[in-house]
Amino acid sequence: MAVRKDTIWERFLSPIARNFIDEEKLRQLYESIDWETESDRFRRPDLSYPHYYSSQNFHGVKGGYLNPGASVSYDPVTQYVLPPNETWVRQGLIDTINGTPRRILDLGCGTGSTTLMLKQAFPQAQVIGLDLSPYMLVMADHKAKIAGLTIEWRHGNAEETGFADGYFDVVAASLLFHETPPAATKSILRECFRVLIPGGQVVILDGNQKTLRQTDWLTEIFEEPYIKDYAAGNVDAWMGAAGFEAVQTTDWWWVHQVTQGIKPLPVEDSATASQRVSANFTQDDFGSEGFPAPAF
Ligand SMILES: C[S@@+](CC[C@H](N)C(=O)[O-])C[C@H]1O[C@@H](n2cnc3c(N)ncnc32)[C@H](O)[C@@H]1O
Repeated sequence: MAVRKDTIWERFLSPIARNFIDEEKLRQLYESIDWETESDRFRRPDLSYPHYYSSQNFHGVKGGYLNPGASVSYDPVTQYVLPPNETWVRQGLIDTINGTPRRILDLGCGTGSTTLMLKQAFPQAQVIGLDLSPYMLVMADHKAKIAGLTIEWRHGNAEETGFADGYFDVVAASLLFHETPPAATKSILRECFRVLIPGGQVVILDGNQKTLRQTDWLTEIFEEPYIKDYAAGNVDAWMGAAGFEAVQTTDWWWVHQVTQGIKPLPVEDSATASQRVSANFTQDDFGSEGFPAPAF
């Protein structure tokens, strides 16, 4: 795995992290996998990679996520870059989900860390993780099998997933948008909107844009080609432009943020629904305030 040596990560932090990472174990894991055969289980030969993705190194790894080595080193490094605790940070996204979704899509699922937590939180749901890197999917599938979880993995572009309109109740994306240029992020959000059922929810966990704007070194620490554009932007505004309502971003431990939004019900549906409500309820069904009395 070729790695650039001039990032802050490589010069200062990686030597520290290396004390805690068992590199020999990682090398053995890397060598134990027949990457081409395994990735062929997921690879869609008709998929073309967007230029912003295939032309860049990510985190100093040459070839970015299209280098199988990136998928082996991703989890051991990520545990040190999501303070105060990786699982707690990811739980912030899970806890934002309303109700009990039946179908969940995790975009840019990577090695599936959030996807596995989604399936654990909603065991009855059909959970699908989608990523552009077939190597990340190999690792994600490996982890799901060890955890005994049934998750579907899809090699695909989050900008154009190929799923039917309105198929999902929830679409999630964790740590994806700081890695996509804003034009791609906007098109991913339009795709989220398309594949969500009316009333469905999008939930996004990523770097805190306010903090990143004020803390230059945080945007320079890893080789992240689009993170400054991400920091300069505003996820709430991008969500609003995609059509989401009730958009809300919550700071999550200073360096992270969790954003949620709802795909509105079509106007005709709300009108029809309220006509149906008034037709179905008699005067006796309404409490003293004139609202329908609760059914429980
Ligand atoms: C920083 S990783 C995040 C992985 C995972 N969601 C997590 O929380 O650890 C970003 C992932 O997004 C994927 N990715 C980037 N652009 C994508 C796109 N347009 N469609 C699908 N996946 C994409 C990359 O391959 C990579 O696995």
